Amino acid sequence: MKLSAATLVAFAAGAIGAPADTIKKAGTPRQAPGACESPVELDASTNVWTQYTLHPNSFYRAEVEAAAAEMSGEAAEAALRVADIGTFLWADTIANIERIEPALEGVPCDHIFGLVVYDLPGRDCAAKASNGELAVGEIDRYKTEYIDVLAELITRYSNTAFALVIEPDSLPNLVTNIDQTNCQQAAAGYREGVAYAFKKLNLPNVVMYVDAGHGGWLGWNDNLRPGAEELADVYKAAGSPSQLRGFATNVAGWNQWDAEPGEFANDPDGQYNAAQNEQKYVTLFGAALATAGMPNHAIVDTGRSGNPGGRLEWGDWCNVVDAGFGPRPTSETGDSLTDAFVWVKPGGESDGTSDTSAVRYDSFCGLEDAFKPSPEAGQWNQAYFEMLIENANPPI
Ligand code: GLC
Repeated sequence: MKLSAATLVAFAAGAIGAPADTIKKAGTPRQAPGACESPVELDASTNVWTQYTLHPNSFYRAEVEAAAAEMSGEAAEAALRVADIGTFLWADTIANIERIEPALEGVPCDHIFGLVVYDLPGRDCAAKASNGELAVGEIDRYKTEYIDVLAELITRYSNTAFALVIEPDSLPNLVTNIDQTNCQQAAAGYREGVAYAFKKLNLPNVVMYVDAGHGGWLGWNDNLRPGAEELADVYKAAGSPSQLRGFATNVAGWNQWDAEPGEFANDPDGQYNAAQNEQKYVTLFGAALATAGMPNHAIVDTGRSGNPGGRLEWGDWCNVVDAGFGPRPTSETGDSLTDAFVWVKPGGESDGTSDTSAVRYDSFCGLEDAFKPSPEAGQWNQAYFEMLIENANPPI
């Protein structure tokens, strides 16, 4: 290791007899590595992201390091830098809960661990790519084998701060896709399951954000109020949990934060949607939530929003071509309702398979603007990851 000028000064100070603790303190990080020494208590009436950094978890790090080993030169170096960017971990099955505990080792006291709660019965009711393991009606298994287990784990790690994104796409599907049989059948379980998650995971070391789709979904003028009421009803049914801070937008999405006029603003139907970028969506949906009586601060997934233009239609969601990594996680959003930009979807993990013979093949993953070949949802797609790096903005 090369000694810095500051180190040399410290050595010199030591030599002339400065007290040992003075020397040790110089250059000490804000927090010693390792978990906090006492239980974490998050005040969800404030923006906790001003005090905590989204933790770059070791599960994604391992995926990224394996990917970098397949690359060379500057691209490989850039890939390794992705491992240091805070990203959420998805508990997408009961079995995958076991991925969490190893990743909790050594989370520094000023980091917050991002976790996605994602296993409702009849999951992904309006699509196929992310259909889950629990069938409609298996709400008791969801409660006892999934949510209760997460609650126990988070309670045991009371010295670690957790940010939870609750059940992507679920309540938004009940607002706009309730004409589909699968969503009708799943609806009661979604509402009961999300309310149960709100109640059980309402722990002092947790801050929760419930998924609210994105501007191109609940942002349509006619969807804002029903969307906000759907979320607020579940929040109230759960007894208005103190640790619910608001909503998450653009999870696994592609929308840009402040693009003007917005990628799809000039579409013929653009006039019916005033939420043409995620900042506008947070403002409009946040206002609707306040009216509906629910906390209304947001986090926004900016992970894959770096290089717009790949989508042919606003609603295209599967492995969009030409995408790039987007703005890094930060609490400096410049927007009073938006607590933080975060990376929720781990870039490089697929949105759905392009194999037309697969049970979970969804036609969106076969569209012209969907990257092919792509593996099953959640599986690693090396070529896609390399593309995200190449197209990253800001560059990696
Ligand atoms: C998808 C998958 C899920 C995965 C997640 C993150 O929604 O269905 O299995 O964990 O994306 O990549």
